[in-house]
Amino acid sequence: MNEDQLVILRVDSSMRQVGSVSRHLADAAMANLHAGLPGAEIVLRDLKAGVGHVNSAWREASLEAAGSRSSEDRAILAQSDALRAEVERAHIIVFAVPIYNFSIPAALKAWVDMVCRNNVDGATALSMPKPTYPKQAVVVLTSNHTKAGASDEFATKFLRHILTFLGCSDINIVDATGLAVDKNGILAAAHEKIQSICQNVASQNISAAAE
Ligand SMILES: Cc1cc2nc3c(=O)[nH]c(=O)nc-3n(C[C@H](O)[C@H](O)[C@H](O)COP(=O)(O)O)c2cc1C
Repeated sequence: MNEDQLVILRVDSSMRQVGSVSRHLADAAMANLHAGLPGAEIVLRDLKAGVGHVNSAWREASLEAAGSRSSEDRAILAQSDALRAEVERAHIIVFAVPIYNFSIPAALKAWVDMVCRNNVDGATALSMPKPTYPKQAVVVLTSNHTKAGASDEFATKFLRHILTFLGCSDINIVDATGLAVDKNGILAAAHEKIQSICQNVASQNISAAAE
């Protein structure tokens, strides 16, 4: 692999565009990664318009063997196929995640359901599939009051589990939670953390590209 083949996928899940703190921090993460890996391809996936939800027809289509799917099955799975392909191609994934009601936004959960097709009906829940190659994830997590790791915070544990499931062996969480308490201080610390994490992620990929 050379650096030009590297793919960085960015997934935004805030429903806000203007004034979005998670997007602002993800911009910084992308800028840092681009500075370290200027040849990498960037793929943007914005979930603010929502994602389709799984339903009975989707489940039936996904359980059908790929070669036996009807054209209707294939149409039903088209969005899931496209989202999965983005994840499969990515070497680095940046997630911008605001906490909504103590957990992740519904659009991000819908994305997870679309992408984790291997686990339909819990098929692989007990034995995690081995990733074909390890991915790295940078998760920017924002909230007003709910603190990452607190007993009422249900985003980080889920994200760590599902990102491992998706093949991420290196998961870096930038904690920008509790913004209502000290927005400037938390943002300054988050920017510092983003810089050091992204430099590290970029240098690991430069070494991998050189191998
Ligand atoms: C629907 C909704 C639910 C939210 N729930 C919480 C919450 O449970 N705890 C919290 O501290 N903040 C909550 N917030 C505030 C957001 O987490 C916070 O404003 C975050 O920084 C938003 O990210 P953004 O600026 O990228 O949109 C909620 C916001 C929305 C819109």
